[in-house]
Amino acid sequence: MTDKNEWGSNMSFILAMIGSAVGLGNIWRYPYVLYSNGGGAFYIPYIVAILLMGIPFLILEYGVGYNFKSSFAKAVKTINSKWEYLGWLLPVAVFMIMIYYSAILGWDGIYIFLSFFKGWGADPNAYFTTTLLQSSDSLSGLLSFIPLIAVAMLVGWVIIWFISHRDLEKGLGKVSKILVPLLFIIMIIIVGFSLTLPGASVGLAELFHPDWSLLGNFDIWMAAFGQIVFSLSLGMSIAFTYASYTKDDSDLITNTISIALANSLFENFAALGVFSILGYMSLQSGTAVADLVTQGTGLVFIVYPTVFNVLGNWAYVLGPLFFFTVYLAGLTSILSTIEPLSFSIQNKFGMTRKRTMTILIVVGAIISMIYATSYGSSVLGYVDTFINQIAILLGVIFECIIFAWIFKAEKLIDFLNSRSKSIKLGKWWILIVKYILPIFVTIVWIGGMYDVIQNSTPDQLIFTVISAVLLLGATLAFTLLPSKSPNWENSEERV
Ligand code: PFF
Repeated sequence: MTDKNEWGSNMSFILAMIGSAVGLGNIWRYPYVLYSNGGGAFYIPYIVAILLMGIPFLILEYGVGYNFKSSFAKAVKTINSKWEYLGWLLPVAVFMIMIYYSAILGWDGIYIFLSFFKGWGADPNAYFTTTLLQSSDSLSGLLSFIPLIAVAMLVGWVIIWFISHRDLEKGLGKVSKILVPLLFIIMIIIVGFSLTLPGASVGLAELFHPDWSLLGNFDIWMAAFGQIVFSLSLGMSIAFTYASYTKDDSDLITNTISIALANSLFENFAALGVFSILGYMSLQSGTAVADLVTQGTGLVFIVYPTVFNVLGNWAYVLGPLFFFTVYLAGLTSILSTIEPLSFSIQNKFGMTRKRTMTILIVVGAIISMIYATSYGSSVLGYVDTFINQIAILLGVIFECIIFAWIFKAEKLIDFLNSRSKSIKLGKWWILIVKYILPIFVTIVWIGGMYDVIQNSTPDQLIFTVISAVLLLGATLAFTLLPSKSPNWENSEERV
């Protein structure tokens, strides 16, 4: 019998973790980052970022999470009770990600339907921005509600509730074991097909063409580190929470390497698909690949429908498959964003998993309705920038200090090595997690802050401040509210 918050097997843990890592960032962000940062030459900073940051940091997050077998907030409070506040900051920030991710999931749900009949019409750009989102960059847009988007988002919330309110293994564990392999299989089919399209090789040559001169450029190193933080969901307290759900002994080092490999494999595979399709489009339209390529919502909801419009009947197969894949990738990621806060609340306030999930999902669904207004897509951009460029990176720095320095990463080495069938940790690991990582991430963070301050519009600044106040206010509330669980003060450590 597994507990309500325990994985049934190591497989559930690995697949749920891959599900969290493999998300929209792998499909719509990575191909563009690779292309615009030196193509083939980008692999050097990318591999360095994985080896120097991704894997060592994940091992630390897993190791500490596994050790405490409790939620993130409780573990941080156990390490130093004065720092409980920091223990709530990340889970709340990640919950804020969940709320805006639900909007993107909703839009994608609508596109699954549209793709069966190319319902976006002859001008996908106008359809997406004007017809569907009714995008307005004026604050008054908050008053114009878009029911179709609200309904699509609510469908997503219901699916999330259906999976998350169950015991961990019966819900998330089981779903990950089905959906994550399915996601990989469909992706292989889509990319396989894309590679056969005329013009695919033109797109790929353009993508991989290495620009070695960029290697000396600081920006591409920042881009590589930023991509790895986002793509591997580093420092988000998710890896920590998932490891704390682990029941028995587990080879955390080998698990980490498998997860990082699967994530990189997926995103590089996605890049092959995206650029084959762009190459095809370039051949059909005579437009250079460089003028077609974009990232984010523009790639998925505008460029892809434009390609499907010229693809003939194949589009009726490829379109639904593509939007369904994006939905799966988004769903398996969004499911992970609720776990850290939910588990922390269960620990502190003695509430059941079912009740906590239900309350959080209802609250999340209500707040998310701001994204179902004409101004919603602007707010989404602002909140996303604040969370990813400012809040989460700060979280990574805090985690390095609390886990590597105060908890002392050295304590984990023997335990982790004794179970590892692959590499063994040594002094190099301590050097990375204590010094190299926090310094590097601080540099990336300063770069991000500078960017936000330089390029912000007044509206963006307002929403950055509102997001910061909400984040800090909720964090403070969770810290100050008195605990209702006798176990909140007792900690259980495994190492
Ligand atoms: N790692 C996910 C991706 O690459 O798309 C994104 C993500 C998932 C970010 C979960 C944050 C998160 F909490």
